[in-house]
Amino acid sequence: MEFSPSLLLLFQRSARIVVLTGAGISAESGIPTFREAQTGLWETYNPEELATPQAFQRNPGLVWDWYAHRREIIAKAQPNPAHRALTDLESLFPEFNLITQNIDNLHRRAGSSGVIELHGNIFRSRCIEEGTRFIEWEEADVKPPRCPDCGGSLRPDVVWFTEALPQEALYTAFNHAENATVFLSVGTSALVQPAASLPLVAKSSGAHLIEVNPDTTPISREADYILRGRAGEILPVLVERIRLMHSS
Ligand code: OAD
Repeated sequence: MEFSPSLLLLFQRSARIVVLTGAGISAESGIPTFREAQTGLWETYNPEELATPQAFQRNPGLVWDWYAHRREIIAKAQPNPAHRALTDLESLFPEFNLITQNIDNLHRRAGSSGVIELHGNIFRSRCIEEGTRFIEWEEADVKPPRCPDCGGSLRPDVVWFTEALPQEALYTAFNHAENATVFLSVGTSALVQPAASLPLVAKSSGAHLIEVNPDTTPISREADYILRGRAGEILPVLVERIRLMHSS
């Protein structure tokens, strides 16, 4: 796999690297991307029908069980070479920021630090009354479980359709995009706002935009470089080339 010299030259140590990832980076960990058909027990449900405040209001136990089912699948998954390559890339640059739309916690498990989670984290829950967040809770017969502090209902600490993104994460993400010199969009269909605007904000602020995806997306035509293929194959080779360039 070869990369153009002009692409590699973007990755001088002084570069300010920002990476946005989507479900595609976890595909090689065996986690279906968001829009792949649901499997097994849940094939009769459409994510768009379950990942909504209305669905939770209507049937909180069903929505809680769906996330418990997904937590079980994701907990068995391992970070793949693409996640690990981003951890290695982070170690090569003093200015590196990773923004993810994924809720699977795999970047953290791969060793990335300071991950900006735009859509929350499936391994966290929060009290719908007080907003307190928990990484551990007592599963009970009654579903969803109750908040240990106030007895209110817990919910998954993820962003549902029609919900606002966490403001702090969003503000920080756009700030990094505006200051990037290199913006990597990896494994996202670039369809869902406001995350899908980040690559374009970076580009309009002067960053070089690189897309890593086997398929074309709405931002492909804006990309300065398109690396067509799977992140688990492309990123480890790219990061190794950058490491060798730094050490030469
Ligand atoms: P999608 O499922 O929409 O898109 C996944 C992208 O990854 C597609 O463009 C695939 O071509 C690409 N892809 C598949 N395998 C890949 C691989 N091995 N390497 C690299 N790319 C690969 O997932 P997202 O773009 O993450 O939001 O979806 C964004 C948001 O839409 C999700 O976070 C979710 C959903 O609504 C919320 O839950 C709020």
